[in-house]
Amino acid sequence: MRDEIREITTQETLSLRQRVLKPFLREDQCVNPGDDLITTHHFGLFYDGKLVSVATFLLESHPDFPAGLPYRLRGMATDVSYQGQGLGQKLLRHGIEHLRQKRCDLIWFNARIKAFPFYEKLGFLYHGPLFEMKDIGPHKVMYKHLIPR
Ligand SMILES: CC(C)(COP(=O)(O)OP(=O)(O)OC[C@H]1O[C@@H](n2cnc3c(N)ncnc32)[C@H](O)[C@@H]1OP(=O)(O)O)[C@@H](O)C(=O)NCCC(=O)NCCS
Repeated sequence: MRDEIREITTQETLSLRQRVLKPFLREDQCVNPGDDLITTHHFGLFYDGKLVSVATFLLESHPDFPAGLPYRLRGMATDVSYQGQGLGQKLLRHGIEHLRQKRCDLIWFNARIKAFPFYEKLGFLYHGPLFEMKDIGPHKVMYKHLIPR
């Protein structure tokens, strides 16, 4: 296998977050509230040993979605040289399956317009209007209900 997915630390996510998602910030400014909580899961996909895709799931509710165990996806990023090869999708599927096993029943997040097709392919739905996020651009809430086993 050339690719391997495993849980990583907040620190390990920062370089890809900074380079791919927030190039206008320093790496240390790419830490999000809750990153170091015990309930937070950071997943990384390693390709030939190099970390090329990251995703973080935080235990966080959304006011419009009643849920028993809701998780918010943040910091979904694939290294530009590795995009479009199915790696981000593989990582996200892995994270969702991991959370489903833990009885998570909702995944939601704020999606950038450019990433809409990526999330649609995974069955995520839109909620509410487009809204602007400073320095980044328009976003929409996307979500998916999971049926806990
Ligand atoms: C969005 C992102 C995480 C997707 O990761 P990726 O590894 O490139 O995605 P994949 O190769 O697994 O794509 C899975 C599917 O989505 C499609 N897809 C991915 N990004 C797409 C895009 N911007 N436009 C259209 N389709 C896209 C792929 O073509 C692929 O389709 P297929 O299964 O029919 O081949 C990555 O492009 C990225 O880091 N973008 C910049 C940061 C960003 O926008 N992150 C999301 C913040 S909300």
